[in-house]
Amino acid sequence: MVDLLLGLQWGDEGKGKIVDVLTKDYDIIARFQGGPNAGHTLEFNGIKHVLHTIPSGIFHKNAINIVGNGVVIDPVIFKKELDNLEKFNLDIAAKLFISRKAHLILPTHRLLDAASETAKGKAKIGSTLKGIGPTYMDKTGRNGMRVGDLEFDNWKDKYRSLANKHEGMIAYYNVDIQYDLKELEDEFCEGIEALKKLKFIDSEQYVFDAMAKGKKILAEGAQGSLLDIDFGTYPFVTSSNTTAAGACTGLGVAPGKIGRVLGIFKAYTTRVGSGPFPTELFDDDGQTMGRVGNEFGATTGRPRRCGWLDLVALKYAVQINGVTDLMMMKADVLSGFESIKVCTAYTYKGKKVEHLPYNIEGNNVVPVYTELKGWSKDLTTLTKASELPPALNAYIAFLEEQLEVPIKIVSVGPDRLQTIHR
Ligand code: GDP
Ligand code: IMO
Ligand code: MG
Repeated sequence: MVDLLLGLQWGDEGKGKIVDVLTKDYDIIARFQGGPNAGHTLEFNGIKHVLHTIPSGIFHKNAINIVGNGVVIDPVIFKKELDNLEKFNLDIAAKLFISRKAHLILPTHRLLDAASETAKGKAKIGSTLKGIGPTYMDKTGRNGMRVGDLEFDNWKDKYRSLANKHEGMIAYYNVDIQYDLKELEDEFCEGIEALKKLKFIDSEQYVFDAMAKGKKILAEGAQGSLLDIDFGTYPFVTSSNTTAAGACTGLGVAPGKIGRVLGIFKAYTTRVGSGPFPTELFDDDGQTMGRVGNEFGATTGRPRRCGWLDLVALKYAVQINGVTDLMMMKADVLSGFESIKVCTAYTYKGKKVEHLPYNIEGNNVVPVYTELKGWSKDLTTLTKASELPPALNAYIAFLEEQLEVPIKIVSVGPDRLQTIHR
């Protein structure tokens, strides 16, 4: 069986931390979508690690890590990730395998991302500019380059013809993008050489065989459900299916082989980049969340927008993904608020609605809040569920009742050890 761990909001819920915590119970950790737009943070032994493409199980001896076919890989960023891990002596080549069917992000994909965003002006998506959109466009347009192509001598011809096409497209945008393609290509080729040192596999077959042997597999999602290309706040989304179904196509796993679906959310809400965010706060409370939660993007460093928990959106994500277990992150950040608000419905066209309408942009929806009592206790040193303050227990009970799914983990700090199992 394959269990899934998925972000239920707009990303950065703490997926990296929890995958790292859970890896001891799994034989294989596999990424199935997204690319280096992701930034997954892990903290243990006083060291903080940020991973972009490499699965978050990499620090454990017991687990094999797979970059699945649904992922898009930038060899340049990938090489940097490998270089950063070198000093930890992890024997990466023995436990990190790459799907031959994963698509490659070319330097010109990154340039196209920048050109597209510049051309959009104020309407820009707020992309991480890692070339994600253009690479998935080439994938679905059937023009992409895949990792498996690198095993053939003519890969540079393929590269050339695609890059030439991209240069024409960049010119079409008619925006001021400065670049030195030769320099970018040298860096790209170095990245390819680093990538080639790893084992390329038919990952769907590998996963199938592993399942037949009874191995336990955890699929690590990137981004979050509200950034899903189909179900997110389109067009302010990423270019892959971040929801449960994405794991089936992104790893080649049949739907009946999916086991538990672990849904992860912050005790409040954040979002980086543009797009609607009904519970966004522009007041002191929002600033406190950002400051205490250290809400800055792990990939771009941009400040994350903050707001109260949006149960309408969270219920929608639980439903789309078929979440069986919930994990609530960053509970510690809410310590000290006198009261805590939760959005339980929206006012939409003058009526109260409890589902996510088609368009939640602008003032289309106004959140309806339920107010709960806050708590002041510092949670960061707690290790047992029995130590949680009553007001936090009441918050948890309220969410469980609303979402009809149990909250199995409460996270009270960024470190591996700051994790409370219930
Ligand atoms: P991911 O993309 O879902 O893996 O999440 P990110 O790593 O982008 O962002 C989560 C941030 O919150 C990281 O800086 C984590 O170190 C941090 N973090 C995770 N869990 C907790 C928690 O329970 N409390 C606090 N204060 N920080 C946390
Ligand atoms: P993790 O895995 C938060 C956002 C971008 C932008 C939109 C499209 O760390 O949770 P893209 O670069 O994909 O074209 O950007 O999606 N975004 C993320 N936000 N966490 C992420 O990943 C994200 N990956 C993309 O900010 O709004
Ligand atoms: Mg992140």
